[in-house]
Amino acid sequence: MVPLLRSAGHQVDGLDLGLYEGCDLGSGIEDIGARPPADMRDTEPGQLAGYDAVICLAALSNDPLGHLNPEATFSVNLEGTLQLARAAKRAGVPRFLFASSCSLYGAAGSAGVAEEAELTPVTPYGETKVLAERELSLLASDDFSPVYLRNATAYGASTRLRLDIVVNNLTAVALTTGEVRLESDGSPWRPLVHIEDISRAFLAMLEAPREVIHDQAFNVGRAEDNVQVRDIAEMVRDAVPGSKLSFADGAGPDLRDYRVDFAKLNDTFPDLKLAWSVRSGIDELAGFYLANGFSYDDFTSSRFVRLRRIQELLSAGLVDEMLRRRTSGQFPAPACRVAHEVG
Ligand SMILES: NC(=O)c1ccc[n+]([C@@H]2O[C@H](COP(=O)([O-])OP(=O)(O)OC[C@H]3O[C@@H](n4cnc5c(N)ncnc54)[C@H](O)[C@@H]3O)[C@@H](O)[C@H]2O)c1
Repeated sequence: MVPLLRSAGHQVDGLDLGLYEGCDLGSGIEDIGARPPADMRDTEPGQLAGYDAVICLAALSNDPLGHLNPEATFSVNLEGTLQLARAAKRAGVPRFLFASSCSLYGAAGSAGVAEEAELTPVTPYGETKVLAERELSLLASDDFSPVYLRNATAYGASTRLRLDIVVNNLTAVALTTGEVRLESDGSPWRPLVHIEDISRAFLAMLEAPREVIHDQAFNVGRAEDNVQVRDIAEMVRDAVPGSKLSFADGAGPDLRDYRVDFAKLNDTFPDLKLAWSVRSGIDELAGFYLANGFSYDDFTSSRFVRLRRIQELLSAGLVDEMLRRRTSGQFPAPACRVAHEVG
């Protein structure tokens, strides 16, 4: 997102708790200014004065982390987001873009859900996104415009790679083991979107007239990339030569199952063309893994799986149970190897 915003002419600074410092594949993390790690739960207005917008991406960013300790997920994703938003409003920042998630539709099923649908999250992570949107909406005023970008599940190559998101994960497992193995029966619907397209949607919301985005929710993704998990697995098998597809014994569907309607995004932003298809993203990922010598040991390491890295920081006493840092110094590099565990 940062290179995209900069290439559009914006000045960008960043604050981050630094939970995943050093968890990189290859090099090229964009420089967002050498600052000490900052916890958004402690944000003060003085840190935000003079900015035109705040983009809130910081979060405990998936369901497994939410299950590990729901209180920590509520503390970061709800209280932290609100602390940041209140500080932004007090500092006179007019626009607040919130990275929400389609996971707040939870178990909506196969009839495409639009923004006004009932929100039925099935995990603490999804609940935090629902509550954060609701509370942010109460802050909306003539001089403060929160916007809720309900992103589909992301995929795509990036230096600070995540392997706990489905396309990135299945492509990595196919390349390193020759087998795409599904732990569910592959029937759930899951909308997908490339990280570059998410970033372009954020840019559009940043630059849109205020009345277009004020206190609005937008589903971010493409209708044609509402797919079933087994479709993803088949695309990966077809893209990675020699790989085969299998299902875990007794695998049933998983609870998250939602198909999403993206018409509002298209209708409101007709010039915003989301360019990536899932298949092109799989090809991009496969090339990125190969170019960086990605191995099976990388796949099983704590480096690219948020839950494993957090568990490592907890066991080393580097963060407390609410995931507050116990040191402002650099965290040690992530352990390279852990026991085999396919996500
Ligand atoms: N990746 C997806 O598929 C997806 C889909 C929909 C929505 N989202 C949302 O988009 C956002 C970004 O997701 P991502 O995939 O880049 O996640 P990520 O886990 O890669 O990054 C989250 C960042 O937040 C930071 N952070 C955590 N707690 C913090 C705190 N208290 N203060 C400051 N920084 C803190 C972490 O250090 C990390 O750098 C999240 O809000 C996530 O919920 C992601």
